[in-house]
Amino acid sequence: MSVRRFPEGFLLGVATSAQQIEGAVREDGRGESIWDRWAATPGKVEDGSDPIVACDHYHRWPDDLALMRGLGIRSYRFSLGWSRVLPDGRTPNPRGLDFYERLVDAMLAAGITPFATLNHWDLPQVLEDAGGWRSRDTVARFVAFTEAAASRLGDRVPYWVTHNEPWCVATLGHEQGHHAPGRRDPGEALAVAHHLLLSHGLALPVLRAHAPRAQAGITLILSPGEPASDSDADRDAARRHDGAFNRWYLDPLFRGRYPEDAIADRVRRGHLASPELPFVREGDLAAIATPADFLGINYYSRAVVRANEQGDPVSVPQAPPGELTDMGWEVHPRGLYETLVRLHRDYAPKAIHVTENGAAFTDADVREAPIADPRRVAYLREHLLAAHRAIEDGVPLRGYFVWSLMDNWEWSLGYAKRFGLHRVDFETQRRVARDSAAWYGEVARTGVIPDGVR
Ligand code: FCB
Repeated sequence: MSVRRFPEGFLLGVATSAQQIEGAVREDGRGESIWDRWAATPGKVEDGSDPIVACDHYHRWPDDLALMRGLGIRSYRFSLGWSRVLPDGRTPNPRGLDFYERLVDAMLAAGITPFATLNHWDLPQVLEDAGGWRSRDTVARFVAFTEAAASRLGDRVPYWVTHNEPWCVATLGHEQGHHAPGRRDPGEALAVAHHLLLSHGLALPVLRAHAPRAQAGITLILSPGEPASDSDADRDAARRHDGAFNRWYLDPLFRGRYPEDAIADRVRRGHLASPELPFVREGDLAAIATPADFLGINYYSRAVVRANEQGDPVSVPQAPPGELTDMGWEVHPRGLYETLVRLHRDYAPKAIHVTENGAAFTDADVREAPIADPRRVAYLREHLLAAHRAIEDGVPLRGYFVWSLMDNWEWSLGYAKRFGLHRVDFETQRRVARDSAAWYGEVARTGVIPDGVR
């Protein structure tokens, strides 16, 4: 069998986000974020937990970097807490920026390439109070955040992601109400998506001005939709899933327009009064389509959908229980391969990074270190093979990041879902390596996917 080696310079990294790991929510001038507020509202987080301490990374970051360094991780995707950088949404907080500067300098000293995300969902609560993402004013506030971060770190951070998964902010946060700020208004959610995309386009020139040598892009969550049956209704439901989940973001970014069929679906559902999108102004679509240097994609699973009575897509669980992660997501590595090939064929981004991929599983036994997690090793291996195959087929994939370095605060699901290469004991803050940590470290150091799972 031929050796499966990633190309020279391929970034094999790990990912986290500020709100999920840092804790220290009231330290050094940090302001309140919408997720702090959400967690403080009874009934919003499944296990009743909050991110006040999380992984205490704000204090333990040198140890966390040492873990990465010890494994030979090449790149670290982290996010800059918006409320740490601009506590009142407007005025830069030097102490917040100092924290990220220390972190970035230490990464560089350790030979770890910094890969920074600006908006990983943690909007300052003051901006939410002023209308949040449904207000066009927040576009300018995001550009100011970009300016504050890039003017301090643009000379040292070579990769920048503007937004993480706008679909989640729009749909989970504003249509389904499962995420902060917990609104349920489909029309409003479309305005939110538009403002996110627009602010991405307007932030790109700011990043280029302060970080001329850096690469900048946006990260989308993508998931192929497959019909549950061959019926016309189910096939149309799969098209609708693709329109609302994938193409609603890809088309404006790469083609400068929203997909007509998906607009028609929204009109039919009563989410829009007409195909005229009321939130789109002259020049917006051109700004959104400003060419980026790369597209980031987060891939976890596919969606198998059937049509409900209205013809709308409803996900149906496909896999037998053994093939679901603790999130209830089917393990489906082929979907990553297909997504990458489709992106290259239909949209041709200059470069692609898989900015997140990973799995939550419950540990069978935590008494002995390292903790055995054969299912996570298998998951990562199969997805890395899918990524490698896409590269062989000509997809310009340049990096892959495991979600996550360590267990952390999984938003509305709290601490119960464990995605880490390291287990975190949230009582003691001890990090204990799982087998997947050493396994992935070897991939990162050698660039080679080992043949068998040990
Ligand atoms: C993604 C998020 C990330 C984490 C993983 C499991 O949607 O970007 O913060 O919650 O899912």
